[in-house]
Amino acid sequence: MLKAIDGVSDVQLTETDMVRGELLRRMRRPQRHRLLHGYPLAAAMPRIAEGRSRDALLPDFDPTRGLLVGVLPHPFCNPTVSGCGFCTFAHEAFTSQKAATVIEHVVREIEQTLLVHPSLARRPVSGLYFGGGTANLSPPEPFRALCRALAQAFDLAGAEVTLEGVPAAFLNRRPWLTEILREELPARHFRLSMGIQSFDPDRLKQMGRRGFGDADTFREVVEFGHARGFTVSGDLLFNLPGQSLDAMKDDMRRAAGIGLDHMGLYHLVLFAGLGTAWSRDPALVASLPENGIAVGNWLELRGLLHGLGFRQTTLTNFEREEFRDHERRFVYEALSFQPDQYDMLGFGPTGISFVDSHVSAVKVLNPDAASEYVAAVDRGGRTWDRAFSYELDDLRVFYLTRRLAALHIDRLDYVFYLGSDPLDDFPREFALFEEQGLVRVTPESIEPTPFGMFYSDSMAGLLASSAQRKRSSGADLAEFSLERRNDNRYGHM
Ligand SMILES: C[S@@+](CC[C@H](N)C(=O)[O-])C[C@H]1O[C@@H](n2cnc3c(N)ncnc32)[C@H](O)[C@@H]1O
Ligand code: SF4
Repeated sequence: MLKAIDGVSDVQLTETDMVRGELLRRMRRPQRHRLLHGYPLAAAMPRIAEGRSRDALLPDFDPTRGLLVGVLPHPFCNPTVSGCGFCTFAHEAFTSQKAATVIEHVVREIEQTLLVHPSLARRPVSGLYFGGGTANLSPPEPFRALCRALAQAFDLAGAEVTLEGVPAAFLNRRPWLTEILREELPARHFRLSMGIQSFDPDRLKQMGRRGFGDADTFREVVEFGHARGFTVSGDLLFNLPGQSLDAMKDDMRRAAGIGLDHMGLYHLVLFAGLGTAWSRDPALVASLPENGIAVGNWLELRGLLHGLGFRQTTLTNFEREEFRDHERRFVYEALSFQPDQYDMLGFGPTGISFVDSHVSAVKVLNPDAASEYVAAVDRGGRTWDRAFSYELDDLRVFYLTRRLAALHIDRLDYVFYLGSDPLDDFPREFALFEEQGLVRVTPESIEPTPFGMFYSDSMAGLLASSAQRKRSSGADLAEFSLERRNDNRYGHM
């Protein structure tokens, strides 16, 4: 029993009531994705205090753990509406020259990292992802140098390599970056990932994406990739302002119809204060569906995709049935949701690294802005400007957040990694998730229900705030407000 409601002396709230209240409040608010960051979110990453050694290191890498490499070659793109209206990824106005300069610095960052961590040299990499803003707008020769640096630094023989970007740029820029990938990277498998967002020409116009292609372009990219042995993925948004369920379904059917191997299906994250162009337009924000409708749309689309032969593999990823257990199935994202087994190295602006040495676990984040990133590489030493050192409770939240995104928390894996059972660590929270129909608990596992998948941000947020309540003192790396660690602005992916 915590307190009585003012003026109603016979109504007393238990701590469970309070936590239930917080969960229901979170479920009424806009829902986000926690795919790239998990916990803590980007806006909540503590800045490294001024004056702190520039040479602060990552912990030693454990050679028995797997390794993933994410490369954000530059933060530039060129939609005609700022940030395509909706996008919270770092994006700055594109020029070839600026992109070339940043990529040259990414090459230097890779070299500097290997000088400081020689044990990383020639380490086998399971997944290499060229992403961030619009990786396929990279000028060819700097991109070739970047590929060479990566091929020299790591063992890519077992790696899946993904190149992300806007559809038209896969086709209309020469030499093709796909050829450069094949020539320079001795990798196991290659993928293309394009942002489709919608097939509706009016929507693409509203996003300022008409220059990135239309339905014909999307189909051509699939054919272009398949002709070269690449698998091809497309991102689609739903719950767009004023969008009908029929229009959303139409997008799914058309996406399946062009032969995509995978789809990334993203509920639009948009709310006043998010910082995107659309978030400053009250009429657009007001025309978003309420969560009760938005979750219904999600359930409909999920069912439709299953009917079209796509199997859900993670919170936002759907893959054609025939890729089940196939060696060419998409692995990067699923492996990144296994922090008990994989370290992650992020190069380039906004690059995220996560390293667990068993003695300590650390997440670091590179500067977002091109100019700050270039200056950081020029200074030498570490490139990142934000760092977070996990205590045990934080690692629990991080792991659970990752596993929710993977759609499966194996209770025994959690015990092996963290030494306890998630139901003992968060008994009240999981009981409430079950009560609200968000998870299904068995003796072996905890899985989000299809309904709960839409609200996984609310679950992750509640777990995080519970861990914050337990944590007694501040972080060791910077002044750091406990409140902010779970602040979600600009960290929705
Ligand atoms: C880095 S972007 C895409 C790559 C490429 N720049 C493009 O626009 O085609 C990755 C994906 O994140 C998704 N995304 C970005 N902002 C989002 C938001 N506010 N809500 C939901 N998904 C979002 C989009 O589907 C986008 O394709
Ligand atoms: S969605 Fe892609 S093209 Fe649009 S602003 Fe974001 S990174 Fe740039």
